[in-house]
Amino acid sequence: MKTYKIAVIPGDGIGPEVIEIGLTALEKVAKTHGFAIESKAFPFGGEHYLATGETLSDESMTELGDYDAIFLGAVGTPDVKPGILEKGILLKLRFEFDQYINLRPVKLYPGIETPLKGKTAKDLDYIVVRENTGGLYTGIGGIMMKGTVDEVAVQSMVYNHTQVSRCLRYAFELAQCRSRRTLALIGKTNVLTHVFDLWERVFHQIGESEFPEVTREYYHVDAACMHMVNEPHRFDVMVTTNMFGDIITDLGAVTQGGMGMAASGNINPTRTKPSMFEPVHGSAPDIVGQNKANPLATVITVKMMLDFLSESEAAQAVDDAIASVTSAGFAGLGTVETGERILKEL
Ligand code: IPM
Ligand code: MN
Repeated sequence: MKTYKIAVIPGDGIGPEVIEIGLTALEKVAKTHGFAIESKAFPFGGEHYLATGETLSDESMTELGDYDAIFLGAVGTPDVKPGILEKGILLKLRFEFDQYINLRPVKLYPGIETPLKGKTAKDLDYIVVRENTGGLYTGIGGIMMKGTVDEVAVQSMVYNHTQVSRCLRYAFELAQCRSRRTLALIGKTNVLTHVFDLWERVFHQIGESEFPEVTREYYHVDAACMHMVNEPHRFDVMVTTNMFGDIITDLGAVTQGGMGMAASGNINPTRTKPSMFEPVHGSAPDIVGQNKANPLATVITVKMMLDFLSESEAAQAVDDAIASVTSAGFAGLGTVETGERILKEL
């Protein structure tokens, strides 16, 4: 029987609560679809860091490197200064495992309320391809004359041709597989004239020579935000830089019913190193242990992981289960009860 090795990092706050449901759903669907899950839990996160001083050691990275995928809940504790866990865990995984694509679907499931007036499930079903290892996130820059009135702080948006073309190629391939075959580049060619000149040129070169059947569109990022609210049906696949992708996918998340519905896959398309799947939300320390967290973002994350593992039928089964639960309405249900409904559907 095909067996997938999954490294599980429940993390902090509501992470363990939602991961438990996600993992149970994954194991259930494995049974019904004829494959096996071999999972091991790893303790990384804020609590582990406070207790041991380790964020993610090189030995741990080597061990994680043997897995088919990493399933992560959320990391972050109020007592740890911002930046340490982000850089030491999340960004370390993304960078060192070269997960250069961050896939973030923006889909309104039936029965879920959107703050977008008059919009329904048919208006909102697109996916954002966020470049995931370059741009402002590389941290290139520095500070001079700190603490004086002459202080200078620089953080550069850095992209090379390879990073841009591999990300665009992934987005084109994805767009080509979808029925609308439309890819929108989201940039800021009117101001960031160096970086987006490169993106725009490579976008049209690759599109014209390799994907002539995919329609190419371009939006400035500010206008894209406006359309994501007013006319989200314009979008099918969007591709953008790391920083813009981070920002617009929080907007996208709100339109699909909130962070509790937003899932993501940090993908290494070469499959030489593991990809990582995580709900977009954080550890939400304010609601931990209260049975309040929406586990569906994590269940959608499981669906994405199954798609990545080429278990399409299992992925479809999970997606159908989510749609049944949202159609029936789950407002007022707790984390555990929502998880039980998913299991029942499966
Ligand atoms: C996200 C998060 C991360 C990011 C943070 C926690 C480093 O906001 O996954 O969107 O900026 O990528
Ligand atoms: Mn973010």
